[in-house]
Amino acid sequence: MDELIGKVAGMIRESQRVVVFTGAGVSTESGISDFRSPGGIWSRYDPEDFTIQRFVADREARKRNWRLRRELVTANYQPNAAHRAIAELERIGKLSCVITQNIDGLHHTAGNTEAAIVELHGTMKDAKCLSCDDRLSLIQVLGRIDQGEEDPHCRKCGGLLKAATVSFGEAMPEREMRRAEECSRECDLFIVIGSSLVVFPAASMPLIAKRAGATLVIINSTPTDMDSAADVVIHGMAGSVMEAIMEQVRGQRSGPA
Ligand code: APR
Repeated sequence: MDELIGKVAGMIRESQRVVVFTGAGVSTESGISDFRSPGGIWSRYDPEDFTIQRFVADREARKRNWRLRRELVTANYQPNAAHRAIAELERIGKLSCVITQNIDGLHHTAGNTEAAIVELHGTMKDAKCLSCDDRLSLIQVLGRIDQGEEDPHCRKCGGLLKAATVSFGEAMPEREMRRAEECSRECDLFIVIGSSLVVFPAASMPLIAKRAGATLVIINSTPTDMDSAADVVIHGMAGSVMEAIMEQVRGQRSGPA
């Protein structure tokens, strides 16, 4: 493991344009369940409830969807060492962007700038109207639910309100997809942290980077289907691995003693 950590630190030192790609595994050490590990969200909620078709058609599914939003919002999660390491990569001028599948906003909280963050699956910060696309804060809508409005509708047009996350079957955000593809094509080092890489089109980004000539690193606690395509694979915990890598990047950057 130490040798691999040193190798990735050296790659970061040599790189000018690093893209970090994160999944739910980067937030589990902050206390947020991921989706596909044992006990993950899809073992407690039915993913079918989170398709846009079911959300639109089934009032009970909408209520279960709002219950999960409430669970995620109330706990006031904080960034962990992995998020802090990714924010440090931006501070030292190495990061071109962090493409995240996560909706928890922890890259913002950890200090990455709005300009550097690409939220491919939307955000839990906001809610949106599915008819007129009006945007409002999710907290505001949860407040209305607390007041007894079980199935909140848009006060402008009467359309259905939904968390501004991308549900299965829903169109991907065009601007974010273009930005993610561009960053993936132009980077020289692509680091995946905490993703099973099974949900497309998000999971196509490491392949786009690899095809464009970037070095691919995968840091994940369990094997992924793309491990064989990676130049370096580290099976470990995101927090401790990224902390160790950044210690070496700092150490190497200070040059010979
Ligand atoms: N450190 C490193 N890896 C971890 C850690 C950790 N602390 N905790 C979990 N992992 C790994 C798991 O082993 C798993 O392979 O992170 C991966 C998380 O995979 P998923 O749960 O599938 O999450 P993700 O890849 O983000 O899912 C993609 O699927 O359901 C949709 O929209 C949802 O954005 C999500 C998308």
